[in-house]
Amino acid sequence: TTFKVGYFVGSLSSTSINRELSKALIALAPDDLEFTEIPIRELPLYSPDHDAAYPPEAVALKEAIQRSQAILFVTPEYNRSIPGALKNAIDWASRPWGQNSFDHVPTAVIGASIGAIGTALAQQSLRAVLSFCNARQMTSPEAYIKFTPETFPGGGRVADESTKTFLATYMAEFRDHITRVLTVLPRHDA
Ligand code: FNR
Repeated sequence: TTFKVGYFVGSLSSTSINRELSKALIALAPDDLEFTEIPIRELPLYSPDHDAAYPPEAVALKEAIQRSQAILFVTPEYNRSIPGALKNAIDWASRPWGQNSFDHVPTAVIGASIGAIGTALAQQSLRAVLSFCNARQMTSPEAYIKFTPETFPGGGRVADESTKTFLATYMAEFRDHITRVLTVLPRHDA
């Protein structure tokens, strides 16, 4: 069996290092994980006024999460938290009240920064949000990636062996986390 993993890239940048990290993670992941990006760029800003009739972009977002057996978040740190675009997407997905798309969904968070703490505070912030959304988070291992062009030369390649092994282990652990969660909480629609 394969597991369908939807993933969010928290950056809208055309030169996003987190998109590059997502490519590396997909390349290093176990073969039984199948990845689909869930886009956030076209979402309007969330307002409860939309709850009665979600716009097509937001319906597509909720359906994409519904089709996924697990969700991976690959995000930059913006001002010691997560980018507004990603928070907006999560807010859309968490609503309307009683239809929270993240309920019991296996998730993992990871991110890359040019700074030394490698998105640690953004990830803490994201974990708080996902806790409230009742997602089943992988809590270990954690992965705080300091991005350099030497380590990530492009095209999803990882030039440094220890980083490569670390990221492969991270994805193997995510796979095990997904298996454990789905054993007790099967996702019938996915
Ligand atoms: C940043 N950056 C940043 N880095 C960091 O380690 N901690 C932070 O709090 C911030 N804050 C921040 C705010 C804003 C508005 C920007 C644009 C940038 C730098 C950030 O790590 C760098 O721009 C990365 O390249 C962002 O990731 P993407 O968009 O390339 O994936």
